[in-house]
Amino acid sequence: MNASPPEGLAPPLAVLLELTHRCPLRCPYCSNPLELERARGELATGQWTRVLDEAAAMGVLQVHFSGGEPTARTDLEALVAHAAGRGLYTNLITSAVLLDRARIAALAAAGLDHVQISFQDSEAAGADRIGGYPGGHAKKLAAAREVKAAGLALTLNAVMHRQNLHHLPEMIELALDLGAGRLEVAHVQYYGWGLANRAALIPTRTQLEAATATVEAARVRHKGRLVIDYVVPDYYARRPKACMGGWARQFLNISPSGKVLPCHAAESIPGLSFENVAQRPLAAIWAQSEAFQRFRGTGWMPEPCRSCARAEIDWGGCRCQAFALAGDAALTDPACALSPHHGAVLALAEAESEAGREAFVYRQIGARIPA
Ligand code: SF4
Ligand code: FES
Repeated sequence: MNASPPEGLAPPLAVLLELTHRCPLRCPYCSNPLELERARGELATGQWTRVLDEAAAMGVLQVHFSGGEPTARTDLEALVAHAAGRGLYTNLITSAVLLDRARIAALAAAGLDHVQISFQDSEAAGADRIGGYPGGHAKKLAAAREVKAAGLALTLNAVMHRQNLHHLPEMIELALDLGAGRLEVAHVQYYGWGLANRAALIPTRTQLEAATATVEAARVRHKGRLVIDYVVPDYYARRPKACMGGWARQFLNISPSGKVLPCHAAESIPGLSFENVAQRPLAAIWAQSEAFQRFRGTGWMPEPCRSCARAEIDWGGCRCQAFALAGDAALTDPACALSPHHGAVLALAEAESEAGREAFVYRQIGARIPA
């Protein structure tokens, strides 16, 4: 393990603030931890504004206001205004079901730069079932139109999986229809809630190949009008993604109660302890905290990563996935074909995707997670 941060450690490019874990939706792939934090533990407005001051002073460029549902915080406008006043680029990641014209106007007036709205499907019945929130899809459509009318930049976040991939062409049309400048086609990632629901969500290899072809064709067809980002489920890949751009290299997350995390799923890794912005300055946590140092850089790597030419390209893949699939966060991500666990993971993906489970474990406090 590294004892001290690398010389000349750069600040994170972006910080993601999980302002709250409260959310009206119950998506079965939510990126929040299985142990959701309660409202009474959330940082107060003055604590969040101090975090924004510290982030700006460190040289952070972007702040993502996320959750849960960040618009459930009535001080969101004040936080956006504070961040904008510190010169930070502000992005709101929202389900949009609580947004109306007045709230969007207030956020725009506060200096919000960009809104990212998640869609569960291209049509209401599927979307409302997946999100566990009747009427949600119609509210999202209305809010997306208001965001455009307010002159804000809009990204659609299409979270894709086995139960909605047949609607990928319609999702792309929806993004065009709503005037989004960017569409993120993000296959579900399997940690936390997504992992608990993997058997109901993981696509077949045939579906994944069709989706990739659809995205590639749409990128060409809509060039200059719509940018399409594409995040694949790497169970079927030969090499893993550089999760978070490498552990503790570019990003950090802060939980509703102020815990500073190297990624949204980091609490799924046993044995790591996370410091809190209420107790220590953000810059000191970024540079020195044990959880950030644990997998920063390449010093922690085992073989085959240690001697691999891609060690500083994918940084050994995803630590949370290594723990979830191989039982040890300090191993090569089993999404890598060079990992001894890769074959078993691939077989699991194929078996679960063909078995056809449909029922979800919805995200909620007290949900019963199957072993
Ligand atoms: Fe990446 Fe490690 Fe696989 Fe090399 S062995 S490609 S560094 S995960
Ligand atoms: Fe935690 Fe990838 S989600 S390192």
